[in-house]
Amino acid sequence: MPKLNENYKKLQNNYLFAEIARRVNEFTSENPDKPVIRLGIGDVTKPLTKSALKALHEGVDMEGSSDTFQGYGPEQGYAFLREAISDYYKRNGVEVDADAVFISDGAKSDTGNITELFAKDNVILVPDPVYPVYVDTNTMDGKEIIYMNGTEENHFLPMPDESVKADIIYLCSPNNPTGACYNKEQLKEWVDYALKNQAVILFDSAYEAFVSDPELPRSIYAIEGARKCAIEFCSLSKTAGFTGTRCSYTIVPKELVFTDSNGEELSLHGMWNRRQSTKYNGTAFLIQHGAAAVFTEEGMKECQENIDYYMENARIISDMLKKKGIWYTGGENSPYIWFKCPGNMDSWEFFDYLLEKAQIVGTPGAGFGKNGKNYFRLTSFGKHESTREAMKRFDELF
Ligand SMILES: Cc1ncc(COP(=O)(O)O)c(C=O)c1O
Repeated sequence: MPKLNENYKKLQNNYLFAEIARRVNEFTSENPDKPVIRLGIGDVTKPLTKSALKALHEGVDMEGSSDTFQGYGPEQGYAFLREAISDYYKRNGVEVDADAVFISDGAKSDTGNITELFAKDNVILVPDPVYPVYVDTNTMDGKEIIYMNGTEENHFLPMPDESVKADIIYLCSPNNPTGACYNKEQLKEWVDYALKNQAVILFDSAYEAFVSDPELPRSIYAIEGARKCAIEFCSLSKTAGFTGTRCSYTIVPKELVFTDSNGEELSLHGMWNRRQSTKYNGTAFLIQHGAAAVFTEEGMKECQENIDYYMENARIISDMLKKKGIWYTGGENSPYIWFKCPGNMDSWEFFDYLLEKAQIVGTPGAGFGKNGKNYFRLTSFGKHESTREAMKRFDELF
């Protein structure tokens, strides 16, 4: 009989979105005449841009011709895409070697798979509230997690605490679910902490394309010293509408070298390369061909138009919260808006209230950790019309 990985028993059930769906289904079946507006989704709604689509079609055609057919590709990704990403960083003022770029099929898979590089007895520091994948993947590995609190007082941007000696630190900026974004000084504190404590920062920048303030860092490598202590995960999911198409990239700098228990040096770049070469046969050629078009001038312009569209929704939502005097964060350099539930309601009470009274669906903060208990997440990924209508209903509520 196989001995099973019983760490799976420690996982919280994927309760959040199932419970939301259950409550919404119950409401719509009892109230078929009341249309519901969904502002809870973390998925994009705009289709692929013209240039990405054209390149994807080209990629398919290339696979169908003996002159251009591509079989197995490099596990790390094609040089043309790794170089395009390195250039993209350069245009944003950040040096990242093409060799450090690993192409993958999702930031979700990579933030999950990276746990394999680390032994069980690390001190793993995770913010609360949090994107649940960091917690679940470490739990599956049987690793212990300690939490750092995101609160209104620290604007949901936890900072290093010298009394805690972490080995691995998860940071996500702009943040899901809170939309909060670290500035350079704050990230520098994290980098300094990591260098001093020989810790590794796992930096999730899946929403970097939503940062419009030129003073805010879009990459941890905008901070000096970060190449010695940080791995960065990024994705075309939200940048370019690739949530269904699947393409992401992870930066593992060669400077990330640590001493093992025998006093020998081990390179995280080398380990990740070995892991990917062994367990992954690369992202599909045609997807990478499509992804490269995202980084062209035209591709970037088209993506920006879509991001601007979403950010107009973020503005509509934020303006309403401002008008109502409700505390919120995010919505400026992020597609997420995170606010305090009015009337001292907890997030599930507020969920029911909003559904019942205004037929708006959002995401209760409790699903992202204990510090989310009294907060609520709305997203800007809907259509202008439905976002405006939702905020009109919201206005009439309070
Ligand atoms: C913080 C964060 N990281 C990673 C992901 C997943 O990205 P991908 O679609 O590339 O797997 C998401 C998706 O919602 C996210 O919110």
